[in-house]
Amino acid sequence: MKTPVIYWKLFVLLVSLGKVYSQTTNNFPLVNVNDSSAGIDVGTQKTYTTRVRLIATTPSSTFVPSVFQNDAVNFYQQTLGGSYAAVTGVVGTSGTSSTGQLIVDVVYNVLYSFTAMQNVGITDNQVTTEIGTYQAVIDGINDFGTTLKNFYVFETDSSVFVFSGSSICSAPGTNCTANTVCNETLSGVTVMCISACKKGYCQNNGTCEQASSATGPTCTCLSTADVWFLGTTCQTRVELWMVIVAAVLGFLLILAAIILACCCYVTKRRKKEKESGLYLTSEKTTTYTNKGYLDTEHGQITKVDAVPR
Ligand SMILES: *[C@@H]1O[C@H](CO)[C@@H](O)[C@H](O)[C@H]1NC(C)=O
Ligand SMILES: *[C@@H]1O[C@H](CO)[C@@H](O)[C@H](O)[C@H]1NC(C)=O
Ligand SMILES: *[C@@H]1O[C@H](CO)[C@@H](O)[C@H](O)[C@H]1NC(C)=O
Ligand SMILES: *[C@@H]1O[C@H](CO)[C@@H](O)[C@H](O)[C@H]1NC(C)=O
Repeated sequence: MKTPVIYWKLFVLLVSLGKVYSQTTNNFPLVNVNDSSAGIDVGTQKTYTTRVRLIATTPSSTFVPSVFQNDAVNFYQQTLGGSYAAVTGVVGTSGTSSTGQLIVDVVYNVLYSFTAMQNVGITDNQVTTEIGTYQAVIDGINDFGTTLKNFYVFETDSSVFVFSGSSICSAPGTNCTANTVCNETLSGVTVMCISACKKGYCQNNGTCEQASSATGPTCTCLSTADVWFLGTTCQTRVELWMVIVAAVLGFLLILAAIILACCCYVTKRRKKEKESGLYLTSEKTTTYTNKGYLDTEHGQITKVDAVPR
């Protein structure tokens, strides 16, 4: 029982010797495609959706979206190098805190011209520090706003804060060169065309290779003594027991097919034998009948009912 296992392991080792190179996370020794900038249409907009929470300071306060919008506009106009476009879609959802105060969750969009941001040279880090953290937004709206602070304060627990950018990669005017894929930092501004290898093209720890941007990526799949990965992106897991079950089933299927073929052959042969027997019989009958006919001509009728069967 032990010997076949050793032979098997030796076989797997020999097979794996063909691919001694390795690929660890974020290291792609077999990828020779440099990251490049994506082509982005002028007019493409980037939207940052933000959520903050306000707590009313006077009992009679009601939330007025336009008041919030005006104060927020003042802030966003002063940030990110003046590449600002608009604050839109201000929606406030009111509730009551445990101490009976009015609280309002405000969700709104800040729209920027993406090409304007690129021209000004905005970085991911700038986006994060200027508009992408709760403290920056609280300070900004309080500092640049005029009206809101008379009625509301911001909730200080930053877990209420949401900040997410729209996808430029999926915008209609954004293109990557052949054999590269678009990759972006959603809450920043970076949009690059990179090898699909760097975006998890090969699954299950397969090694990804892309010799140049003239060809697509290819995967060398992982295999161990009892597990293999198959498919273009190593997506299919095959285990030793599956192979054994498949082999046994295949063998049984072939056996069944052989038995069936034999049965068919025997049946056919028997039928044929039977058929040729009948043919002979009818020939003999004709002979006898003819004889009878001939004999009738000579005035002698031969008994024809003694036909051999
Ligand atoms: C990638 O960039 C490096 C450094 O700029 C350059 O030497 C190399 O030729 C480039 N490779 C390709 C395939 O363009
Ligand atoms: C991207 O491709 C579309 C469709 O082919 C084209 O209309 C658009 O001008 C391209 N954009 C850039 C920036 O190359
Ligand atoms: C792709 O984008 C993500 C952010 O969405 C970033 O963490 C990652 O480093 C990028 N990959 C490359 C290869 O630039
Ligand atoms: C892939 O590698 C990671 C890290 O080494 C490991 O945790 C994981 O189990 C591996 N997956 C497979 C399918 O081998």
